[in-house]
Amino acid sequence: KIKKKRTVENERQLIDKILRLKKEKRAVILAHYYTIPEVQQVADFTGDSLALSARAAETDAKIILFAGVHFMAETAKILSPDKKVLLPEPEAGCSLADSCSAPDFERFLRDYNGYTVVSYVNTSVGVKALTDICCTSSNAVDVIRSLPSDAKIVFAPDRNLGNYIRGVTGRDMVVWDGACGVHEEFSLEKILELKKKYPEAKVLAHPECKKTVLLAADYIGSTAALLRFASTDPADTFIVVTEAGILYRMRKENPGKTFIPAPPEDASCGCNNCAFMKMVTLDKIYRALLDESPEVVLDEEIRRKAEGSIRRMLEIGK
Ligand code: 13P
Ligand code: SF4
Repeated sequence: KIKKKRTVENERQLIDKILRLKKEKRAVILAHYYTIPEVQQVADFTGDSLALSARAAETDAKIILFAGVHFMAETAKILSPDKKVLLPEPEAGCSLADSCSAPDFERFLRDYNGYTVVSYVNTSVGVKALTDICCTSSNAVDVIRSLPSDAKIVFAPDRNLGNYIRGVTGRDMVVWDGACGVHEEFSLEKILELKKKYPEAKVLAHPECKKTVLLAADYIGSTAALLRFASTDPADTFIVVTEAGILYRMRKENPGKTFIPAPPEDASCGCNNCAFMKMVTLDKIYRALLDESPEVVLDEEIRRKAEGSIRRMLEIGK
């Protein structure tokens, strides 16, 4: 008990130190909903990838500390090249972004001359530089619908999101064969088992999940859309089929409701948690603010090429 008390005190002190340093250095902390609760507590703003990109584009802070994964911090740097962008854990990558390298994508595009290239923001700056317009799971349908109805489209890198949007919009789309290691692991069987136990529960799923899983969902949306749905829908029990970090915010915003995280296919792997997002800790945030490092540095020519694809997305909005 004494040990636990000390830990809580230490954490409080660390949080205070981070908040002081943040003020001194005119830094802003942006955190994704999938990061651990303590990290979300020190953030100035917590959001999904779209909201975080928009914030990164408009902040007047001197330093942006990105509590999230690599492609998110890179996106912030693409939009705010004159600001210092810190990524407290440089090894925090993304299996989805890694499933589509820029050289492979460039070779792939040689077969698709004249196609409009739409990429999910979960990509490297190199892939964004090859992209006409980016999207996130919040605005993917609007981005596709903003294109002329006869446009031929290449969509990368997430096959599940791509196939889902193709179904919703009926557009002519070639989809890159990539996936997120977290969302791919959810299984229909496990969700049906939970449904038997909680027949009144509504199933909320992220569009990065497989088609069989999406078929069982009552509502499909980005993390921000799932949060909105959970707060406004009259149901009081929800089975949540996305990264489990979202539950912190769902429970905080809806204390009277019950949220059940869907387990992955192999329940022992714990892979409904994104290991990359969980690498960001309070200690690393403090060190990064103190040292103003590790910093995201981009090649200016590639950054400029990538910027257009994100700005076009932000013009469309949500
Ligand atoms: P959103 O933040 O767009 O919902 O994306 C989820 C995700 O997997 C982020 O890495
Ligand atoms: Fe990437 Fe999936 Fe983690 Fe999101 S949840 S950061 S897509 S690996």
